[in-house]
Amino acid sequence: MKKSYTFIANWKMYFDFNESMNYATKNLDSIISLADLSNASIILCPSFPMLYPLTQIFRQTKVQIGAQNCSDHTKGPFTGQVCAKTLNQMGCKSCIIGHSEIRRYKSETDEMISKKFEMLLDDGISPILCIGESELDYKNGKTLEVINEQLKRVIEIVSYSAKKFNGLPIYIAYEPEWCIGSGKTPSNDKLETIFAWINAQTQKHHSISNWQFLYGGSVDVENAVRIGQISYINGFLIGKMSTNFELFEKIVKSTILGNNN
Ligand code: PGA
Repeated sequence: MKKSYTFIANWKMYFDFNESMNYATKNLDSIISLADLSNASIILCPSFPMLYPLTQIFRQTKVQIGAQNCSDHTKGPFTGQVCAKTLNQMGCKSCIIGHSEIRRYKSETDEMISKKFEMLLDDGISPILCIGESELDYKNGKTLEVINEQLKRVIEIVSYSAKKFNGLPIYIAYEPEWCIGSGKTPSNDKLETIFAWINAQTQKHHSISNWQFLYGGSVDVENAVRIGQISYINGFLIGKMSTNFELFEKIVKSTILGNNN
């Protein structure tokens, strides 16, 4: 059976408001056509202020809009934060949580991330949970130990409340910190082992959830086909390369075709 893939564009803070709108309007028809491909789903993740205009632009298309983060609170005196319910009301379908740039710069803990995970599910939004080890942990052979710590709480959450959100995709994005923006990617052998392990963890509780496993970290036109063929990988979280539409489009098309030509 042909694999289906989800391509998530993590625009980080590469674009200001006008640049985001220009990207969307200039490439509108092509973005919609990509999302219409039978085995590709497209999710664009801009900064907060662009979420609502983009959900409006892509209303009634298959292009989905996701957020880059959310609050770990539902309401109250939390200046500068945005709750999951607001994301839902704006038309967001998914939200990145646990990105290493937020873990690092905003001291986000696994406990906070698991609260966000649960709140997103309660509001009908698919979490895109990022996990991944540092270069030092990778060199010391601690990858599985680190990602186990990052994964175990959310797997518990899903195991005790899976029925509540039956069918909602839950994305796990394995993004080794040392691969983000560095041009480096893990070898096929490493990725095969890691994704088989992630799959085994999520199946432990016989949950009925729709888990989707993504790879992120320096995905580009050269490596997407190779990585896309690894067992259990059915999508990518793409940073820098997603900000150039021609390259993003090439990554999508070559991955689903299984070749670069
Ligand atoms: P990159 O970023 O593709 O620029 O390496 C990926 C990410 O941080 O999600």
